[in-house]
Amino acid sequence: MSEIQAKRRVLSGMRPTGRLHLGNYMGALYNWVRLQDEYDCFFFIADIHALTTDYANPGDVGGKSREVALDFLGAGLDPEKCTIFKQSDVPAHCELFTYMGMFTPLGWLERVPTYKDQQEQLREKDLATYGFLGYPLLQSADILLYKPDFVPVGQDQVSHVELTREVARRFNQLYGSAVTPEVAAAKSDKELMKAEISENVLEQQLLPEPKVLLTPSPKLPGLDGRKMSKSYGNTIGLTEAPDDLRKKMKGMVTDPARVRRTDPGDPDVCPVGDLHKVFSTQETMAKVYDGCRSAGIGCIECKGWAADSVLREIEPIRERRAQYEADPKLVTEILEAGAAKAHAFSGPVMKELKRAIGL
Ligand code: TRP
Ligand code: SF4
Repeated sequence: MSEIQAKRRVLSGMRPTGRLHLGNYMGALYNWVRLQDEYDCFFFIADIHALTTDYANPGDVGGKSREVALDFLGAGLDPEKCTIFKQSDVPAHCELFTYMGMFTPLGWLERVPTYKDQQEQLREKDLATYGFLGYPLLQSADILLYKPDFVPVGQDQVSHVELTREVARRFNQLYGSAVTPEVAAAKSDKELMKAEISENVLEQQLLPEPKVLLTPSPKLPGLDGRKMSKSYGNTIGLTEAPDDLRKKMKGMVTDPARVRRTDPGDPDVCPVGDLHKVFSTQETMAKVYDGCRSAGIGCIECKGWAADSVLREIEPIRERRAQYEADPKLVTEILEAGAAKAHAFSGPVMKELKRAIGL
């Protein structure tokens, strides 16, 4: 084996929901930025996935994708270190999705928990469509094309990576005739088994099974105390201007036990306390716990400290984003170069897979 080990590969994607909020950032981007030094990373904007739910009103998917690209760059994804692209710019995603649709049993897709959950949550949309059922299979194609070692996602996406592994296994069973020289030469069952489970054979799998890299997604409350989510309208923008952010946070829900200034409270049951836990230093946390439990501080003061902590994290992001925003041509070039790199990787993989299928 050579001394220089190839970097392991990572792939993840995000749907273009428009400008990202703090929850999107902490749940994904924050982790991605930390992965780009150690791994060979592909990060993409899943604009085709957006159509699975918004086909009737795609609005400006292209514009939203650009906003997300700006947030990627602002957050610190570095196009020199990782590959950033838009899903619809790389044709292999749709291609592999089509081929895998031929052998994926309907039951596998119907059983993915997000299928029924989302249909119930988005009742106003007709999601009894082929494309929506296929959502996780398109995601499997996104992933398998890059043969990644790891897929960093939050808990809500684990079932999709599980499906991806099943689909890879099925692809390998159907088209990846595992007849390596060792297997062919095996004279007994015992030898055959040994040959099949040797790492050698596993490495030659047509489509390796990727692993979930469960990224920490801290509980991030929105302004009303519920989970921060665009659909609840309770978000804090990732690149919110400082004054707006402070104003928004001033209106945040607190521990209901603190009705008057003199009532003691508990940061562990307060959404502002949850924000402190994610963004504040130990020192500030200590002041918050002491001051809240003894009614020594007021909530307005405490919210001000929380805003300081959040701003310390996101101000550099806002500044970096503004620089990219001022140079639209550069952003276009970054996305084009990313798509070219993604195509250079996935094109040959697609060719290999088509050959294996027998086309
Ligand atoms: N379904 C993912 C989400 O909603 C987005 C996504 C699409 C994705 N394709 C992917 C994530 C491939 C990881 C890998 O968050
Ligand atoms: Fe919440 Fe801070 Fe008020 Fe305590 S002092 S209830 S932690 S906002």
